[in-house]
Amino acid sequence: MNGPLVLAIESSCDETGIALVGGGRRIQANVVASQVALHAPTGGIVPEVAARAHLRWIVPVLDEAWEAAGVHWDDVDAIAVTRGPGLAGSLLVGINFAKALAYVHEKPLVGVNHLEGHLYAAWLLDPGEPDKPEPAFPLVALIVSGGHTFLVEMRDHLTYRLLGETVDDAAGEAFDKVGRLLGLGYPGGPAIMAAAAGATRRDVVFPRAWLGDSYDFSFSGLKTAARRIIAAARADEGLPADDPDARLSAAATAELAHGFQESVVDVLVTKTIRAAVASGARSIVLGGGVAANRVLRERLAGEAESRGLPLVVPRPGLCTDNGAMIGAAGARRFEAGERAGYELDARPSLPLTTRG
Ligand code: KG4
Ligand code: ZN
Repeated sequence: MNGPLVLAIESSCDETGIALVGGGRRIQANVVASQVALHAPTGGIVPEVAARAHLRWIVPVLDEAWEAAGVHWDDVDAIAVTRGPGLAGSLLVGINFAKALAYVHEKPLVGVNHLEGHLYAAWLLDPGEPDKPEPAFPLVALIVSGGHTFLVEMRDHLTYRLLGETVDDAAGEAFDKVGRLLGLGYPGGPAIMAAAAGATRRDVVFPRAWLGDSYDFSFSGLKTAARRIIAAARADEGLPADDPDARLSAAATAELAHGFQESVVDVLVTKTIRAAVASGARSIVLGGGVAANRVLRERLAGEAESRGLPLVVPRPGLCTDNGAMIGAAGARRFEAGERAGYELDARPSLPLTTRG
């Protein structure tokens, strides 16, 4: 494959990911060590626990990726690493590791924005997957993750115009919080999707925060409504308000999970389609952990298709955090001439772009 071979490292949150990506597209290896089981007992991520787990797993993850790709150091053109946004301690592990590798093997280093990685996951091709066209510009991208929810317009590579973003919680955060309220454990997103799929009653309607004509999002009101609706359902079933072990029936849990998911998906899809039509987009990109949600993917694909707009969405394993997406974005930055020095530092609140 033409273009640089990039070794990419992702450690911004709770997944240790290392990948080898050719030409910003072709995955040669992509290994992810997930900390989900580690954080499940606390119902969320404890930053120091996450940082120590990266420290524990980063070398074995590199070894596995290296073996899977079957390449040599001579083949590697650059090392890309996530520099933010994310948890400082977690980012520092990946950045320091990338610097050591770059130093020892005398390779150029490129710092990558994690959110840009989620966007560029749309360009990735799996090993052996037939070539397919790249997302067409101009495009509108919806990125929905545990920490971020925003809509951007891209008229060319590496340039973004922010159309809207969440004014409070991220979509993934809302899934995780409501998952906890329903007693579904951590992370809430996949658990709510699974519970909702079994809903036979679909009568409960959760509110939607439209915020007028704005492309911004708000999920905190939905979370408050969910708390009230869940408390009422518990009272209906005669459950004590303060005993988390007394769980709602499976039927009620499924109905509420379904109602909540419908509200989130409805708002995300409606605003994305409206933004794409208004900006004359030729394609739509969807990314971030919440893009692993089957209902969101199917609903957005249907709405986009009916308007003649192709939707490009990575397979679910490339929507959640991974190294390959950092390799895809890192290759573009590398080819644009960007180089990071050894002073590269973690930027926990790094924005993708400011509103323009
Ligand atoms: O992008 P990501 O892996 O990490 C961040 O950068 O935040 O996103 C993680 C988020 C979590 O909030 C998780 O609950 C959510 O993505 N998520 C889902 C699904 N899979 C993961 N949300 C809804 N449905 C899913 N299937
Ligand atoms: Zn992410």
